[in-house]
Amino acid sequence: MYEDIKDQIVEVCHKMWTKGWVAANDGNVSVKVDEDRYLATRTGISKYEITRDHIGLIDGSFNVIEKPTEDWRPSSEIKMHMKCYQERPDVGAVVHAHPPVATGFACAHKPLDDYCMIETVITVGSVPLTPYGTPSTYEVPQAIEPYLPYHDVMLLTNHGALTVGADLTTAYYRMETLELQAQISLVARLLGGVKDIDMNNINRLIGMRDQYGVTGKHPGYKKYTKK
Ligand code: 13P
Repeated sequence: MYEDIKDQIVEVCHKMWTKGWVAANDGNVSVKVDEDRYLATRTGISKYEITRDHIGLIDGSFNVIEKPTEDWRPSSEIKMHMKCYQERPDVGAVVHAHPPVATGFACAHKPLDDYCMIETVITVGSVPLTPYGTPSTYEVPQAIEPYLPYHDVMLLTNHGALTVGADLTTAYYRMETLELQAQISLVARLLGGVKDIDMNNINRLIGMRDQYGVTGKHPGYKKYTKK
């Protein structure tokens, strides 16, 4: 069942490995396929080696509905994924990876909340740094919970990054945008500091989100937006 969506998940995993966002068994992906039904990558598999046979079907209470192999278990971060679906009915896919420049910001405890690049203002908005949580525990969903209503893209302190979207392509593209934004922001910081777009133009860009078909939750720049 859901073979096409399994193929999409495999393709995203291969892209993440090719881009160097995951080492060894890092990273995980899930997709909501029906009411209370989710496809998820198995725990402990390289995103280069992954095939359809490493993707299983679970429900929101972590019951395994369909497992491709006897020893199949969902990602150890499935509690984090499920929190995204619980808090955000608009979310249809969740991607977790360790893209190195964005994760560098997470390790330096620096959010990516500057608005120096127009595409990022339109598609991603400000990216917060969520508090530390031990992987695989309920600390992680607790840490992201306050940010989920406002953000589609988050840095996980000393860990990596998390993106959500209405579908898998959108969630994956948000991870691409995050990593490029992190690289650009790092270069701007090396060159003497980020220079933000002025407030008037930030508002114009935010107003263009509909025009570009951008959906989801994107708060304005933290300096200008009250939550
Ligand atoms: P899983 O192999 O259990 O999905 O864990 C990988 C990971 O990145 C943990 O944060």
